[in-house]
Amino acid sequence: MYNGPLRLFHLSDIHFGLVDQQAIDWAKACIDREMPHAVAITGDLTMRARHPEFQAACEWIQGLDVPVTVEVGNHDIPYFNLYQRFFDPYRRFKAIERMVETQLDLPNLAIVPLRTTTRAQYQRFPWSNGWVTDHALKQTLAQIDALPEGTRVLVTCHHPLPERRADGKLLTINGTRTMEVLAGRKVMAVLSGHIHDPFDLTEQTPAGPLRMIGAGTLSKRIRSTPPSFNEIVIDGDQIRVTARNLEKVPTPAMQIDEVPENALPPREPGEPVSPVGKVPPVDPPVH
Ligand SMILES: [Fe+2]
Ligand SMILES: [Fe+2]
Repeated sequence: MYNGPLRLFHLSDIHFGLVDQQAIDWAKACIDREMPHAVAITGDLTMRARHPEFQAACEWIQGLDVPVTVEVGNHDIPYFNLYQRFFDPYRRFKAIERMVETQLDLPNLAIVPLRTTTRAQYQRFPWSNGWVTDHALKQTLAQIDALPEGTRVLVTCHHPLPERRADGKLLTINGTRTMEVLAGRKVMAVLSGHIHDPFDLTEQTPAGPLRMIGAGTLSKRIRSTPPSFNEIVIDGDQIRVTARNLEKVPTPAMQIDEVPENALPPREPGEPVSPVGKVPPVDPPVH
C-alpha cells in the first residue's frame, strides 16, 4: 500500500450563479495538472439551488478526473420550490449523486462526510446556519467506527462546528458535542466552508484538541480574501495547509483567527477579518 504523503484539494462555496470564472478555471487547471489524491468540496455549489446553476456545477464536477466528495450547503437545497425543499431536496444533484456525502477511502485515510445542512430548523429562522442532528452525527460516527483500526480520519461538512460566537450568538446547533465526540475519535481535522475565508484553528474539547480547517470561496462572493482553495498534505500524522490563491497572498495573511457567524458582508464590527483584509461593502447582485 502507498505510504507516502497524501495530497487533497479542499474547495468550497463555488456558488455557480455567482462564480468567479477565472478562479474556477485556475482551480480546474491545478487539479488537471497536479492530480491530487482527492478533491473535497464542502458545499454551497450554487447560489439559489436553481436548475441552470446545478447543471453548471454538475458539469464542472464531472469534468474532474480524481476522486471527489461533495457536501451539501445551505444554498444547495431548493429555495423557491418548497415542495421539493421538504420532500426531495437532493433531486437536483442527480448527475453527481454518487459523489454527494460520499466517504472516500484513500491509503490509510478516510474522508467521512457529516451533514450540517437541514431543510428547516424549529430553533430559529432563517435556516442558513448549521445543525448537526442526532441522526447525522450517528451516521458519521458509525462510518468512523467501521474503519479498520488505525485509519486516519478527516471529516467534511459545510458549516464550521463552533456552536457559539464569543458574544453567545448561536452558530451550529449541537456543534460543541459534535466536536467533543470527533476529538474523542481522534479525527485529524474537520474540513468546512460557509464563511468564505480560510482558517486553520484548533478547538480544545474535554476529549482533546480538534483541528478545524476552513476553505475560502471560488465565487465572487469574496469576503476578506481573494478567491482560494486549500491544498492539504497529510504526511504521517502531520497536516500542512496552504490557502492557494491567484494573487499569491501568503497563507498566514489569508487565514482568519476566529470563525464568524457567516459570510454576509458587511461583517459586523468586531468580527474577524483576514490580515489581507479585502472586504467588499456588499455582495455583488445575483442575476
Ligand atoms: Fe457560501
Ligand atoms: Fe453556506
